[in-house]
Amino acid sequence: MDIAIAGGTGVLGSAVATVAEGRGHRVRVLSRSKGVDVETGEGLADAVGGADALVDALSVQTTSAKRAEAFFATTTRALQEAARAGGVAHHVVPSIVGVDRVPYGYYAGKLAQERAVEAGEVPWTILRATQFHEFASQLFERAAVGPLRLAVKMRTQPVAVREVAERLVDLVEAGPAGRAPDFAGPREESMVEMMRAWAARSGYDGRMPAIALPGAFGRAMRDGSVLPGLDADHGTVTFEEWLQAQPTR
Ligand SMILES: NC(=O)c1ccc[n+]([C@@H]2O[C@H](COP(=O)([O-])OP(=O)(O)OC[C@H]3O[C@@H](n4cnc5c(N)ncnc54)[C@H](OP(=O)(O)O)[C@@H]3O)[C@@H](O)[C@H]2O)c1
Repeated sequence: MDIAIAGGTGVLGSAVATVAEGRGHRVRVLSRSKGVDVETGEGLADAVGGADALVDALSVQTTSAKRAEAFFATTTRALQEAARAGGVAHHVVPSIVGVDRVPYGYYAGKLAQERAVEAGEVPWTILRATQFHEFASQLFERAAVGPLRLAVKMRTQPVAVREVAERLVDLVEAGPAGRAPDFAGPREESMVEMMRAWAARSGYDGRMPAIALPGAFGRAMRDGSVLPGLDADHGTVTFEEWLQAQPTR
């Protein structure tokens, strides 16, 4: 198949590209660094036209609901329109377990994205996944307070990006399916322990007190709102296995 991957240079998108190429598919990578800006539409029609399927692995770094909703609604409509005009038969979108339960600006954007895909003319598949194992390292980078690093109290069932990418390519190959079963890692983990394990692996030997994030968002992180339901599918790679495979610094 000929697969266009919006955000194909990102954490998830590059893994989708690697998996798709490994299975013999032709891949087109759409990102600003490759001359395609999905938000403004620059280069989009040519990049998408004639592909068999489109995977939307775009993201924006924001916690503002207004910015996230604007980004995901605009880019999703632009991708739908480019796909419709270019004869693309399938639009595949990764989303996140709990986006409809957790009051968080970025999740409001993901929900707007889901709604825009569902309202579009191009047949679609949405796959909600849980946090990637990398999330522990991303939080660690943001959690510096003076000499300390804070460890965030959160219930999560993290999943390997590679396994999410494999599932997305399975879905591309299978054709439009609407909402696919949610996809999660093999077991629940404590984000505090994940962050401390990542810190130790990275050579950090300072203190890491556990903190509860304030407000409704913090409560949702702790009460299981981003955990998968009983009907979810599961990958096999645990956080510990993923961590051991990371290069030491
Ligand atoms: N991270 C998680 O734990 C998690 C869990 C479940 C689902 N997801 C979902 O997976 C998707 C990908 O997330 P990620 O963490 O892999 O993102 P990421 O690493 O931040 O990558 C974002 C990609 O989007 C591209 N991009 C951003 N703005 C663009 C624009 N205007 N035009 C064209 N390309 C643009 C970036 O390339 P340029 O900068 O070169 O444009 C990059 O390739 C998101 O929908 C996210 O919600 C993430």
